Amino acid sequence: MKARIVYASMTGNDADMADILEEDLQDYGFDVETSEAEFTDASDYLTSDLCIFVTYTYGEGKMTDDVADFYEQLKELDLSGKYFAVMGSGDMVYADHFCENVFDFEKMFNQVGAKEVTKPVTIENAPDDDDIAAIDNAAKEMADQLNG
Ligand SMILES: Cc1cc2nc3c(=O)[nH]c(=O)nc-3n(C[C@H](O)[C@H](O)[C@H](O)COP(=O)(O)O)c2cc1C
Repeated sequence: MKARIVYASMTGNDADMADILEEDLQDYGFDVETSEAEFTDASDYLTSDLCIFVTYTYGEGKMTDDVADFYEQLKELDLSGKYFAVMGSGDMVYADHFCENVFDFEKMFNQVGAKEVTKPVTIENAPDDDDIAAIDNAAKEMADQLNG
């Protein structure tokens, strides 16, 4: 099974999440490719079974250019028959906007026909032990659904 992880990260927290997930999925036998949104076209998802997006949220949910460009590309795809998962890091001080980009992408993946394999993992700032366990658990759910 092929998994494609695309991430957006300003200060490294989401890059760390993507690294943790990549390692987990490799341990479950997935063939994983990971890349940064800025340098990836969303159409790269078309060659994967499992499409994953990991993102920060800045500016009260208003997408920064790298994330917005990727979102616009995703909008144009037909991902029916594929699976997806989203996750990301935010900060609860932003209250209603906590991890808003993660939920925006969840809606868009649904809109373009992909099937969600596990609920979004949203964490605060850098991943701590509990967050790592949540990512590990999400990876297990991905493996159970796609390899099982
Ligand atoms: C200027 C600024 C705006 C932010 N806006 C939000 C926000 O609207 N919602 C949110 O959940 N987190 C917000 N954050 C917190 C970041 O998303 C959080 O620090 C995240 O861990 C950054 O991820 P990264 O290290 O992958 O870039 C903001 C942070 C900064 C510096």
